[in-house]
Amino acid sequence: MKKLLIGNWKMNKNSHDVAEFFKSFNEKYTVKRDAWIAAQAIHFPIVEELKTPSVKAGLQNCSEHIEGAYTGEVSPRSLKDMNGHFVILGHSERRQFFGETSRGLNAKIRTVINEGLVAVYCVGETLSEREAGLTLSLIEDQIHQGLNDQSKANLENLIIAYEPVWAIGTGKTATPDQAQEVHAHIRSILTSKFPAFGGKTRILYGGSVKPDNVEELLAQKDIDGGLVGGASLKAKDFLALCGDK
Ligand code: PGA
Repeated sequence: MKKLLIGNWKMNKNSHDVAEFFKSFNEKYTVKRDAWIAAQAIHFPIVEELKTPSVKAGLQNCSEHIEGAYTGEVSPRSLKDMNGHFVILGHSERRQFFGETSRGLNAKIRTVINEGLVAVYCVGETLSEREAGLTLSLIEDQIHQGLNDQSKANLENLIIAYEPVWAIGTGKTATPDQAQEVHAHIRSILTSKFPAFGGKTRILYGGSVKPDNVEELLAQKDIDGGLVGGASLKAKDFLALCGDK
């Protein structure tokens, strides 16, 4: 399977910036690696219109409900209807600023996958948790709580993103060995929980992935791609991450 780079644009860019990005990106992207973009929800239609067809578009969050009286929420069914492909769920900023928990995310993961979208479920430890030696057990809890009672038939549409919180937007990247250790752990949890899927599930690394560290990260056995914030905002950088210099 190709390596996958997901650009998480967070709450950045205006409509003009989105158009400029794709003008440059579309020209040079050769699909050596898969490229997906999660823009602000309001920009989804212009991303969908302007991106080259091989790029897939998604969201950074959505509702756990598919319709009804949920003012301000975005329905995964509506995303699918608009040709959306995926949703990032449980990003550490959602956990930190909006109170999301692995248990609560369990329902969102279920709805998103049931609606035919790919769920990109984010897990990761804070610096104090790492220093206390809790990384592997915490990741295990996050995976069990998020994936508990999920239908095995649907797990082909699941991606896990390991994002150490201390590496997000800080310029501090986990070393390839640190990342690989956690990715191998995630792979073994998935394989024992879901023998048919664990080996095939894409596990992405996120946290200050940049053109100058991407190759050594992607060279690790269990790192199947990257979830990228800062370095996905400029077409030139994101192209470099996609292997198109
Ligand atoms: P960063 O963000 O690449 O800017 O560290 C990653 C993320 O938040 O997904």
